[in-house]
Amino acid sequence: MPLKFRQVIFDLDGTITRSAPGICASAAYAIDNMGFPPLPEDKLTEFVGPPLMHSFMRLCGMTEAQAAEATRLFRERHSVIGWKEAAVYPGIYELVYSLKREGAIITLASSKSRGLCVKTLEYFGLLPFFDGVSAPDEHNAHTVTKQELILAALKVAKADACMVGDRVFDLEGARQAGVCSVAAAYGYGSAEELASCGPDATAADPAALRELLLGDAERMPGFFITLEGSDGCGKTTQSRLLKQYLETLGLDVVLTREPGGCPISEKIRGLLLDVSSLGMTDECEALLFAAARQQHIHDTILPALARGAVVLCDRFNDSSIAYQGFGRGLGDWVRQINARALEKCTPDLTVVFDISPDEALRRRLGEQAADRIELSREALQRRVYEAFISLCESGEKRYKRLDAGGTPEQIFDNLRQTVIKLFTSPPGEVE
Ligand code: TYD
Repeated sequence: MPLKFRQVIFDLDGTITRSAPGICASAAYAIDNMGFPPLPEDKLTEFVGPPLMHSFMRLCGMTEAQAAEATRLFRERHSVIGWKEAAVYPGIYELVYSLKREGAIITLASSKSRGLCVKTLEYFGLLPFFDGVSAPDEHNAHTVTKQELILAALKVAKADACMVGDRVFDLEGARQAGVCSVAAAYGYGSAEELASCGPDATAADPAALRELLLGDAERMPGFFITLEGSDGCGKTTQSRLLKQYLETLGLDVVLTREPGGCPISEKIRGLLLDVSSLGMTDECEALLFAAARQQHIHDTILPALARGAVVLCDRFNDSSIAYQGFGRGLGDWVRQINARALEKCTPDLTVVFDISPDEALRRRLGEQAADRIELSREALQRRVYEAFISLCESGEKRYKRLDAGGTPEQIFDNLRQTVIKLFTSPPGEVE
């Protein structure tokens, strides 16, 4: 087993997540609303870490009463959007994923309030990997020490655990608690600060941390996620949001689409959607989609999966089954002409955005010029919708039907949770 420690205790901010953007933006919001002159970026970053009151007084020259009001304004913004403006350090999500796969016990020991810790781990899709969260409740936030938090998190013999953190409190707390201390030198602590407490080990970046904790353990695999649904279901907007979100997890994300997704297949896309191709037979259309897919898999999808990326594909083979197989009535032949390309490339997850044909039509009205396929579509759309629903009900576990009738935010929250479930379920056991 490549695990160097049976239990890894992580600090949150500066070790797993980088919360500075949300803190700086919330400080700037408070300063602006108080009518004080704006601070330059390097001054704003000084808000990360020390008590807020203190920073407003020192950096802006506020009185105590003004600083108290500024702190209230800061929280007003930070509690709603600021905390989400954080990001996971690239490489950390994959590290936590691999630690879990190798059987490590993973816990958090943070001085931030427990509510915020749980909310942050949940939002960034990390909570299911954690076996415990040791953090103060609101009432004892300033009285509990890091040593106490580490001891409360401990689930194995001290010699089998390590604490990873970026500040002097984390490393000294680890020493006082009697566990190995690992400095995350990529976080907010300066080199002098870290050197002053003589950690047992130092990781310059998440890759070095991985080497330290896991040696050459297996890496997080690539994931192939397809997004499907009738025209007008909103999946294109959602796939962009999903890409942005997965990038805040520090993952390598490739967003691609069908027909298209690589130079040759984009040319085929041009042929398929061109209104001057109106005389195209259904069979020719199905073969062109299959041809474009074969090239796309070869040129874009497989290379990305091989390097461990998350590939998001806006439409894939299920669109051929729904549009050409059911919609145009070409049946099982469509599966056959795609079978060879798909041998090496089945999606891990297929999200079907479910919107009734009437609602989809209502949404599409007012859009710019319809393409060739869209022109021949009303009856086709209904058959396509039914085809997608029957695929979802086929019993194949990779299909997840998602209600696409709500607001973009509600739809995205469901999508986010569905994707996180894929990452955090044991391989082959997505429910
Ligand atoms: P596009 O403009 O990308 O539409 P959307 O935003 O709805 O995905 O055009 C793709 C069209 O091609 C769409 O109407 C669905 C259709 N299509 C098929 O008929 N078969 C397929 O295999 C694929 C991938 C798409």
